[in-house]
Amino acid sequence: MNKKIPPFIVLLLFAVVYANAQTSTRQGQMHAFVDGLLKKMTLDEKIGQLNLLTGGEATTGSVVSTDMEAKIKNGQVGGIFSMSTPGRIRKAQELAVNHTRLKIPLIFGMDVIHGYKTMFPIPLGLSCTWDMGLIEQTARVAAIEASADGLNWTFSPMVDISRDPRWGRISEGSGEDPYLGSQIAASMVKGYQGNDLGQNNTILACIKHFALYGAVEAGREYNTTDMSLPRMYNEYFPPYKAGIDAGAATVMASFNDINGMPATANKWLLDDVLRKQWGFKGMVVTDYTAINELTAHGLGDLQEVSALAIKAGADMDMVGEGYLTTLKNSLTEGKVSQVDIDRACRLILEAKYKLGLFDDPFRYCDENRAKTEILSQEHLAFARQVAGQSFVLLKNENHLLPLKKSGTVALIGPLSNTGSNMPGTWSVSAELDKTPSLLEGMQEVLGKQVKILHAMGANLLEDSTYQTRATMFGRTIPRDTRPEADMIAEAVATANQSDVVVAALGESSEMTGESSSRTNLDIPAVQRRLLEALLNTGKPVVLVLFAGRPLTLKWENDHVPAILNAWFGGSQAAQAITDVLFGAVNPSGKLTATFPQNVGQIPLYYSHKNTGRPLEEGKWFQKFKSNYLDVDNDPLYPFGFGLSYTQFEYSSVELSAPVFNRGGYLSASVTVRNTGEVAGKEVVQLYIQDLVGSTTRPVKELKGFQKISLAPGESKKVTFRISEADLKFYNAQLTYAAEPGDFKVFIGGNSRDVKEAGFSFK
Ligand code: BGC
Repeated sequence: MNKKIPPFIVLLLFAVVYANAQTSTRQGQMHAFVDGLLKKMTLDEKIGQLNLLTGGEATTGSVVSTDMEAKIKNGQVGGIFSMSTPGRIRKAQELAVNHTRLKIPLIFGMDVIHGYKTMFPIPLGLSCTWDMGLIEQTARVAAIEASADGLNWTFSPMVDISRDPRWGRISEGSGEDPYLGSQIAASMVKGYQGNDLGQNNTILACIKHFALYGAVEAGREYNTTDMSLPRMYNEYFPPYKAGIDAGAATVMASFNDINGMPATANKWLLDDVLRKQWGFKGMVVTDYTAINELTAHGLGDLQEVSALAIKAGADMDMVGEGYLTTLKNSLTEGKVSQVDIDRACRLILEAKYKLGLFDDPFRYCDENRAKTEILSQEHLAFARQVAGQSFVLLKNENHLLPLKKSGTVALIGPLSNTGSNMPGTWSVSAELDKTPSLLEGMQEVLGKQVKILHAMGANLLEDSTYQTRATMFGRTIPRDTRPEADMIAEAVATANQSDVVVAALGESSEMTGESSSRTNLDIPAVQRRLLEALLNTGKPVVLVLFAGRPLTLKWENDHVPAILNAWFGGSQAAQAITDVLFGAVNPSGKLTATFPQNVGQIPLYYSHKNTGRPLEEGKWFQKFKSNYLDVDNDPLYPFGFGLSYTQFEYSSVELSAPVFNRGGYLSASVTVRNTGEVAGKEVVQLYIQDLVGSTTRPVKELKGFQKISLAPGESKKVTFRISEADLKFYNAQLTYAAEPGDFKVFIGGNSRDVKEAGFSFK
């Protein structure tokens, strides 16, 4: 037998060894540099590094930073966030490097959540693309633009799993599923950080909010989370870990209490899990004034809670200045150790080192880049493409969509002419006046081909004080002071002159996001009454839904022939909605969070447990079964669901073998055929059920997906490889292992409509 190793393998091995050697040399250099610097630093200088101030351009708390200039000069600041004006950044950096003894540069952060100035769909919408390449590229573009304005750290990706659409921040994450959420977390980190953080167009990612913020009780903002360890490890932790495995340089601790200890002071979470179990080597930042809030949680005064936080592993103190004002005393009194302070300081200095700031503190301050790289034509065209992929077609009776590019369209609704709402929540750097409204976008794209009539039809909300709360941060929607009946009459008259009505209804952008929890998830009643009046005209009505969360759409689903969920699509949302409505783009988004029938069903998610008394399939109410008297258990739209202008037919599932052993694998395949008349994209989803376990297991778990494109009449065989890794879970002892036994595999275009087969693992 020829034992010679092929030359390309030798080369590959050489390249891997070389890359590893390079990394460890760079790390060695970093450690030596930071060791040297720490030796020169006084206690005050070290504590100063732990202080993160806000530049106040976007604030999410009632406390704002003061005396910034003096504090920088005194070496009392390690970084600034929410400051994105290049001149201000340069000035602050000059103060730090020209006026402090050791000339340590500042780090500059910002909530660059779904784009910087070129805005992409809100993260929940973006996740509905199920396209990892696309998602990574949105983060790449965001990093290019943010760094062109001088920023080098983003507080993103937000990877909190949420199964509670009452929680307003469900809009900021990737929905309910840990497998999909993990892939997205890793893609975003890669996009922001690139291959080399030392480049001036890559920025530090921050995995947030660690942890379990999406599971706050009753969906009420900042509320408590109490959860079993197996559930944490199996269902909520994976995306955080995936982001860390992908190399995220920083992590943000969450506001919430976890089983009796808020994350900010939770040593088990920040040290045992994050650092010891997962090997995280980067820096942990608190959330906004989260250390101070530990007092309200009932853990002691500011000195007490600051000591708790630093000992738990929180390195940088956002806004609250608890570290700055108390750590010195705590050290003298023996409440914290020098080791705690040195650890935190070291990790912050290392983050700066990785960015190359010690070589050149102004590396990110190249004003020329901003002119060409921000809001470029290329970025805007990409944003339009991404938005078009994020929309989810929920209903399309009798192929009402796509619309013909002719005749008259009546565009009606409080969300039809508000550009400032298009970028969606958490778009703090978006240029709101440059984002076209749906009306403007339609006019731009359609020109004279289609006559567009317009009426507002209803206010966003009947209650003006509620509307004020729902239109903050410049996202105003002017109120019409006429009586409701007059507005509806005008809308109906407009509809009567048209061939088709497009009703732009739903939530304003600030009805989701931070501190925007809701208990009623219907379309606001005043808008529903408008919709009813429009339907009564007998004209075909298309509902273009703006939403930052799953809404309860039972009535709409029963009455409206076509529903396109457009989320909040970003800078080019209006053009992209027009592309989809008029057929230039075939919708392909698939839901990443279940849409319940009503709020009472929440939390409702596809990967639930079976219970001992499951309802028989296809049944509604059965006495002494796990169900409700007044509504069946089904969602309105299941996880993974989304229609297309074409249809896809799935063959039965073929397995390469009925059994596989440890170390082996089997393949599961289906053939998918486009049976319609237009080309389309389909997200083929693979789910697995472990039929017998040492603990109870979910009825289905997503374990793979592939997004394919099919021309009309075309078929493709889609194959998934199933191996031991796909069967692993954390058991009651938190051992991560696959258990031998029988499994079911399901493949389909959503979590409900699937073909199934069975296999055994030995
Ligand atoms: C939010 C974080 C955000 C921070 C800084 C907080 O209120 O919870 O997500 O990164 O503010 O703006």
